[in-house]
Amino acid sequence: MKNTPIERHLIDETINEFQIVDFSKATIREVKAIASKAEAASGVEFIKMEMGVPGLPPSAVGVKAEIAALQNGIASLYPDINGLPELKKEASNFIKAFINVDLSPEGCVPVTGSMQGTFASFLTCSQCDEKKDTILFIDPGFPVQKQQLVVMGQKYETFDVYDYRGDKLKEKLESFLKKGNISAIIYSNPNNPSWICLKEEELRIIGELATQYDVIVLEDLAYFAMDFRQDLSKPYQAPFQPSVAHYTDNYVLLISGSKAFSYAGQRIGVSCISDKLYHRSYPGLTKRYGGGTFGTVFIHRVLYALSSGTSHSAQFAMAAMLKAANEGQYNFLNEVKIYGERAQKLKEIFLRHGFHLVYDNDLGDPIADGFYFTIGYPGMTSGELAKELMYYGVSAISLVTTGSHQEGLRACTSFIKDHQYAQLDERMKLFAENHPVV
Ligand SMILES: Cc1ncc(COP(=O)(O)O)c(C=O)c1O
Repeated sequence: MKNTPIERHLIDETINEFQIVDFSKATIREVKAIASKAEAASGVEFIKMEMGVPGLPPSAVGVKAEIAALQNGIASLYPDINGLPELKKEASNFIKAFINVDLSPEGCVPVTGSMQGTFASFLTCSQCDEKKDTILFIDPGFPVQKQQLVVMGQKYETFDVYDYRGDKLKEKLESFLKKGNISAIIYSNPNNPSWICLKEEELRIIGELATQYDVIVLEDLAYFAMDFRQDLSKPYQAPFQPSVAHYTDNYVLLISGSKAFSYAGQRIGVSCISDKLYHRSYPGLTKRYGGGTFGTVFIHRVLYALSSGTSHSAQFAMAAMLKAANEGQYNFLNEVKIYGERAQKLKEIFLRHGFHLVYDNDLGDPIADGFYFTIGYPGMTSGELAKELMYYGVSAISLVTTGSHQEGLRACTSFIKDHQYAQLDERMKLFAENHPVV
């Protein structure tokens, strides 16, 4: 076996130091810390693919509006708990322009990132009906959302959608829903970590079952319109971002400033509650709060208790970004489509050296190139592959942490620099030589 770019003992010692017994369960922060340490000790640059944070400059439209708002003195004022009226209006327009769905400004509620949106949604959904005490994840998914439920002491159930695409999704979902304990279903689309994109027929199944079993769908659109196989960037023109909103009234759409607008640092997103859900009262909410509807409890009870609203200046930024996108003056997808270009190049290198894509198609269509992709190597478990790649100076997280039952890793394209394709090619060539597939 040829020597690896990073001496094996360096990685092994660091893993021991962190007391990680099973590397497949290492968190993103742990993988990052080990990579940084090994990089400093060896002087060899790591190809970092573990973090899912934007690697691009923030939207200039947002920054400009935020600076102007601050100079106008808004920092001293508490924001309206319902949200800045201008942002609520533009979020409603954005949903019409890019999803082709009507949703009133009233239900568009600013949050400190989708993270807060899901936390507040989980909490509100869990309090509607005491028999419904469990959240269902269509996995793989974003690990922190399960942590949110652990923090609040709520139950969840999960299944890996890998084997349940298309028609098979119906029976699988029903096997959970018919038990009567599910309050809400959550998934992201495009999906973190696999970058699968649920198709209209699958969203129809989810929506129709949500209505039938009276559960709420939390549709996490953190990677809004970033399925670059189609041009979803033209406001008020098909094709639109697919959404469950076409198939049920029981939904909350979680739109984030973080990825589509590279605005993660300011912690801004909008949780958009359907008109019907906003105005619906639930026995559990009435009992706990003495009144209120889903929408008013979400805002005036839950969000008020969590953070008393969302950073005032970031709301001005988000309003300006959405407005410019709605008016066709700012093609936000142009700025982020580089992630897709990077994915295409990276996948080609991995595939050439014997790797395969784990989640590789959407009902027969090759998966899109985007922010993430998933890779596996013959005969290696997720943990083995994640650890082995560290010796080659490549860091990525195991799919185990995402609720996937497949063996493989999630690779993120956001931090890749131009000179690293040649580096990766060289290192994966060596990897393949050291791990011949029999
Ligand atoms: C699927 C998914 N949802 C939500 C988030 C968090 O978004 P925000 O930064 O708006 O809190 C992320 C961020 O990585 C994500 O991947």
